[in-house]
Amino acid sequence: MIEVKDLVRQFKSGDRTIKPVNGVSFELGKGTLASIVGKSGSGKSTLLSLLGALDKPTSGDVIVDGVSLAALPDTKLTEYRRRDIGFVFQQFNLIPNLSAVDNVMLPMEFAGVRKAARSARAKELLEQVQLDPEKHGRRINRLSGGEQQRVAIARALANEPKLILADEPTGNLDEQTGEHIIALLSSLSRDHNTTILVVTHDRSLANKADRRFRLQQGRLSEEASRQRVAAPAS
Ligand SMILES: Nc1ncnc2c1ncn2[C@@H]1O[C@H](COP(=O)(O)OP(=O)(O)OP(=O)(O)O)[C@@H](O)[C@H]1O
Ligand SMILES: [Mg+2]
Repeated sequence: MIEVKDLVRQFKSGDRTIKPVNGVSFELGKGTLASIVGKSGSGKSTLLSLLGALDKPTSGDVIVDGVSLAALPDTKLTEYRRRDIGFVFQQFNLIPNLSAVDNVMLPMEFAGVRKAARSARAKELLEQVQLDPEKHGRRINRLSGGEQQRVAIARALANEPKLILADEPTGNLDEQTGEHIIALLSSLSRDHNTTILVVTHDRSLANKADRRFRLQQGRLSEEASRQRVAAPAS
């Protein structure tokens, strides 16, 4: 589904050059839930930005369903970001003076979904991430960090993206809400065949992943792969 080829991103800081991403290659199949761990500053967010076409690599390429991002013009990259990717980032990028429900509706507006359908789906998604219904109409800047996190996750799911890139999605959440988000991501990958790449320090989230990676000195190594344990028959 996604194939990353010898990706490098360097930054100049003063007269020094740093390469937080320095030759990263991997492939993820459709429906895989993968996690990345690594120290602060190791380049995790930089890598996710490259995969989501928010940033361009110094060299290397990202190939999504056979399409090379390096070969796409900016208009197509915008389309790719809007249509194919769900972002859950550390800085949430929500619009502070719009309500929770309006924020979740926004990506669907770009995708041309009709208003009634947008609103119904937005409410359903906010329920799925367990945002108190009383707060669906509340402005983002009047929600707590954890509540904003849930809105950001609901928004990321709005267009049923084929790839979800999540940067510490449970970072601001209490344990119970975190567990719920983990279960949600896990069922998305399993039941909807969504590919999910999640940066996390959360052990229970990392343990749910089908594939676990570590980013260290610009390189990605795989820690463990296992068959996902089948869900009990119900
Ligand atoms: N736009 C930029 N210009 C210059 N340096 C940058 C830029 N973005 C990131 N960096 C540097 O690249 C390195 C990797 O940063 P990145 O944000 O990817 O780390 P991270 O692994 O996500 O860390 P954290 O766990 O703290 O979020 C850091 O040294 C950071 O200062
Ligand atoms: Mg980061």
